[in-house]
Amino acid sequence: MTELLDAAAAWDRLRRIRTADDALAAGLVTDGDGALRWGRPATPEAAELADRYLPLCLAGPRIAFAQLGQSLDGFIATRTGDADYVTGAEDRCHLHRLRALSDAVLVGAGTAVADDPRLTVRACAGDNPVRVVLDPRGRVPRGSGVFTDGAAPTLWVVGPDAAPMARDTGAEVLILPDAAAFAPERLLTALARRGLGRVLIEGGGVTVSRFLRERALHRLYVTVAPVLLGDGIPGLRFPGTPVMREALRPPLRRALLGQDTLFEFTLEPDAEPSGGQADGT
Ligand SMILES: NC(=O)c1ccc[n+]([C@@H]2O[C@H](COP(=O)([O-])OP(=O)(O)OC[C@H]3O[C@@H](n4cnc5c(N)ncnc54)[C@H](OP(=O)(O)O)[C@@H]3O)[C@@H](O)[C@H]2O)c1
Repeated sequence: MTELLDAAAAWDRLRRIRTADDALAAGLVTDGDGALRWGRPATPEAAELADRYLPLCLAGPRIAFAQLGQSLDGFIATRTGDADYVTGAEDRCHLHRLRALSDAVLVGAGTAVADDPRLTVRACAGDNPVRVVLDPRGRVPRGSGVFTDGAAPTLWVVGPDAAPMARDTGAEVLILPDAAAFAPERLLTALARRGLGRVLIEGGGVTVSRFLRERALHRLYVTVAPVLLGDGIPGLRFPGTPVMREALRPPLRRALLGQDTLFEFTLEPDAEPSGGQADGT
C-alpha cells in the first residue's frame, strides 16, 4: 500500500515550489476542475496545506503580501503596544510558513521598536528570509536583535539624516534619498533589484495600511482572534467610502485556525510602479 503523504512531507515539497514545473516535480497533478492536488494519497492536513499555500507559491517571482493578526474589534496590539500574542499557535505557524515562502520579511519601525522581533522561521521547516526594517528616522535601537543576532541577513532602510547612527551594526544599511523613495512600490522595486522579489509585509498597522492604500499588495492575510481589546494599536486604516456598496470587498478565502479565523484576500495592485528606483539608482 502507498504510504500517505503527511503534512511535514507536503510542506517540505510546497516550500520549494515557485513555478508550475516545480509543482509537477513536487508530485502535484491537475484534477478535473483544473485545481492542483497531490498525485498520491495524502492526509487531509497535507491536502489542506496545498490548498492554502499553492496560490502563493505559484504567484510569480514578484509578489507583495501582508499578514496581520487582530482582535475582533480591529486592534493588532493593546494600547501599550503589547501584541504577545493576539492570535493563537496555529496562526503563528501560518505566519512562519509565510516567512518561509518569502525572500524578504519587512516591518515598520514601530514594530521593530515595540517587539524587538526575530522575524525568523521557527514554527515550521524553512529558510529565513532577509529581514527589512523601514526606519526613515533611525529610531530603532542599534542593539535590536535583527541588527545583532546574526540569525539572518538584515537590511536597515533609513533616510539620509539617520545614516550615521545606522552604521557599524550587523545590518546592511540602505540609505534612501528622500521620503518619496519610501513609497511602497519604489521600495519593492529596490528589493526586487536585490533578488528579493517575494516580500511579506509583516506589520504593523501603519506599514501594512500604506502598502494597501497605495495598491502595492497582491494578497492580504488577516487573522481575526475572538478577543475584544476595546482600544489599542489599530490594524488596517485607509480612507473609507461614504456608502457600503462602494466598500472594498476583494475576492476572499476563509479558513479556521484553532479559535481564530484566517481571511485571505486577493488584491489587484497597480500594474505600473509609481516612480523611479527607491535608492535613486
Ligand atoms: N498583531 C500583529 O499582527 C502585529 C504585527 C506587527 C506589529 N504589531 C504591533 O503593532 C505595533 C506597531 O505597529 P504600528 O502600526 O504602530 O507601526 P509600524 O507599522 O510597525 O511602523 C510604522 C513606522 O514605520 C516607518 N514606516 C513604515 N512604512 C514606511 C514607509 N513606507 N515610509 C516611511 N516610513 C515608514 C515609519 O516610521 P517613523 O514614524 O519613524 O517615520 C512609521 O511610522 C506594535 O505594538 C506591534 O507589537 C502587531
